[in-house]
Amino acid sequence: MRLREKYVPKAVYNVTPIFVAESEKASIKDVDGNEYIDFATGISCLNVGHRNPEVLKAVSEQMERYLHLCFHVTPYEPYVELAEKLATLAPGSFDKKVMLVNSGAEAVENAVKVARRYTGRPTIITFEYAFHGRTRLAMSLTGSVHPYKYGFGPLDLAVHRTPYAYCYRCSFGLKYPACNMRCVEYIRDTLAVHLSPDDVAAIIVEPIQGEGGFIVPPKEFILGLRKICDENGILLIADEIQSGMGRTGKMFAVEHFNVVPEMVTVAKSLGGGLPIAATIGRREIMDSVQVGGLGGTFGGNPLSCAAALKAVDTVQQLLINARKLGENLTGRIKEMHEKYEIIGDARGIGLMAGVELVADRKTKKPAKEERNQVLDECLKNGLIIIGAGPYKNVVRFLPPLNINEDLLDKGLDIFENAIKAVSAR
Ligand SMILES: Cc1ncc(COP(=O)(O)O)c(C=O)c1O
Repeated sequence: MRLREKYVPKAVYNVTPIFVAESEKASIKDVDGNEYIDFATGISCLNVGHRNPEVLKAVSEQMERYLHLCFHVTPYEPYVELAEKLATLAPGSFDKKVMLVNSGAEAVENAVKVARRYTGRPTIITFEYAFHGRTRLAMSLTGSVHPYKYGFGPLDLAVHRTPYAYCYRCSFGLKYPACNMRCVEYIRDTLAVHLSPDDVAAIIVEPIQGEGGFIVPPKEFILGLRKICDENGILLIADEIQSGMGRTGKMFAVEHFNVVPEMVTVAKSLGGGLPIAATIGRREIMDSVQVGGLGGTFGGNPLSCAAALKAVDTVQQLLINARKLGENLTGRIKEMHEKYEIIGDARGIGLMAGVELVADRKTKKPAKEERNQVLDECLKNGLIIIGAGPYKNVVRFLPPLNINEDLLDKGLDIFENAIKAVSAR
């Protein structure tokens, strides 16, 4: 840690002081020999578990063949196989094409590049509390200024932000369903008065917000966005970087809403622990870009493609488990919501769940300090779990989809004891 502090900038943050020695499935051992249950999975990158044996085998077999080639110089099969798999799996019965890149931010950047090129329109509609990454455009689409955008301007100007369906803290002070989805109608008003639809290329939305606090919107929200897009020739981009790859018990979270977007971004768990991301889109949209307009040296590198091919297959086999364990998880946090005043809201689908801590249930004052104490208490007792939310008062649960049931319960017991301990202070 002393060397880390000397050589790595403080901005490149750490949320725990743990240096890892080894990891397996849902467990981490640190260099001091301490063992932890992992409910963070490298921010949702290990839906198939740490060091999944199938993924390891695929990677080591690929290592025997070749490492880097650059798809633009000498194409290779795993890239194309993965593109075919993702095109087949992504929602929509239309033909799709897939571009592989290295990170979530890059997948988002490329989705926006393609959407702007296809529509010939500049503006992207994005949401309050959204998180889409840290490169210039992705950070411009991101909601919270602190810490993501502060001091990094000028940002991309053709970005229009509008309220998300964060019903627990409705931006309009209304209550669902009496609100009649004011947040959707507000976009309609905006497009009638303030912003010409002819200038809007796409709406980019996380079907369930991740960094924004694990916010699950009502079905009508995502359906409403689809309708607005259809009415105005606007593309819908689903950012599934955190919510995709089986996290919610379906391959893509947007499937819970019966909505088909024109474009989908995936990253994180796609590589089963290796860096890879994808921009998936309707064939004619993806093909609207001139040759050479998209690309990158490392995009879809062979090792990551081999890992992803196995990770995707494995996730497909784990969907039922994710749904079943998801019921245990959401059931437990809802029980805790009944029991502990400090839990203002408990929400989630599948294994994408979060609790929001408040100092007072009436005023909903965010309990940021207490949330940090809960995370610390969990860590002390062997559970790695991380926060989320613009008010830094949400705890998010991201266990692997193949965690064993007892370990999930054990982790939840540690969490509940932490809530009890902090509530008693
Ligand atoms: C929804 C969403 N989009 C984009 C990103 C950015 O991904 P990356 O950190 O791989 O650039 C994230 C990362 O947390 C995310 O959750």
